[in-house]
Amino acid sequence: MKKIGILHGKERSFPTAFIDRVNSKGIDGIIAEPVRIEKVVQGEPTEYAVIIDRISQDVPFYRAYLKNAALCGTAVINNPFWWSADEKFFNNCLATKIGVPVPKTVILPSYQLPPDTTGESFSNLAYPLDWDGIFNYIGFPAYMKPFAGGGWKSVYRLENKDEFLQKHGETGELVMLLQEEIIFEEYYRCYCIGGKYVRIMPYEPRNPFHLRYVADFSPSAEKLKEMEEIVLRINKYLGYDFNTVELALRDGVPYAIDFCNPAPDADINSVGQENFDWVVETAATFAIEKAQSNEPAKDNLTWGEYVKRSSSSQNLI
Ligand SMILES: Nc1ncnc2c1ncn2[C@@H]1O[C@H](COP(=O)(O)OP(=O)(O)O)[C@@H](O)[C@H]1O
Ligand SMILES: [Mg+2]
Repeated sequence: MKKIGILHGKERSFPTAFIDRVNSKGIDGIIAEPVRIEKVVQGEPTEYAVIIDRISQDVPFYRAYLKNAALCGTAVINNPFWWSADEKFFNNCLATKIGVPVPKTVILPSYQLPPDTTGESFSNLAYPLDWDGIFNYIGFPAYMKPFAGGGWKSVYRLENKDEFLQKHGETGELVMLLQEEIIFEEYYRCYCIGGKYVRIMPYEPRNPFHLRYVADFSPSAEKLKEMEEIVLRINKYLGYDFNTVELALRDGVPYAIDFCNPAPDADINSVGQENFDWVVETAATFAIEKAQSNEPAKDNLTWGEYVKRSSSSQNLI
């Protein structure tokens, strides 16, 4: 028997439907259930061939549990080691090396000092920074957002330098990105599962929350193909099994805006019935594939091209 577990927080619609879908397929030797943890002992395997992780970004205890699970042979979706290492600035840096258009972006030191540091801890940092150089490069309006954030938290659209100075002062110890605004004609949110299944969803971020997936963009077959290739390329290099990529089209060019979403929103009330059905079905199919190909006590994680090529000293592309 190979078990597929799902580890989740307070979300309900996706985990429940996922478990039901895997089990209703009635595949011999496969069952799905919510992960149950009673104790976590170093070096001891879990009972799961596959775990879908929807919450360890918020629960460090779960992240540590998942790393041990992976070491002992569980295929954790997504790779907890890579997820721990990754953030939005690195995503953009990598994109510049693999031919994916991204908005011009810089990273900024936090406005307030990190805990247990003083001004003396920062003797490597020029004071002031080259703000003119930064503003000239990015331009205004600009977006400012946490380098490792999500859920639209602390995302600012800034008209000018004065607004930047005022808002940056509100960001405390957060490390922020400052980014060129992409003034787009169309916007898409794209699921990518298993590095091969892609669903491109028209998305209108300027609509109120409940209407964001109600957008009537209808891309040509050629544009769809181009976007699909970008989504696959990004996920191949990052090594995510389950992710969303947001693409903003400016003059027809798809710019990757947000592609570090390893626990993407899959709630029926936000994505809508059709997208929900797709994500449940596809996640179930992929989790079953992973369970069936799982080799006990081996590394069953997905590693991205970036890590694979770096560790074997190959060129990135
Ligand atoms: N560079 C940008 N140009 C235009 N719109 C942006 C840009 N960055 C963010 N946005 C808008 O802000 C929203 C939230 O930013 P995003 O980077 O997706 O952060 P989060 O991870 O919190 O979802 C995006 O969906 C998009 O509508
Ligand atoms: Mg986003």
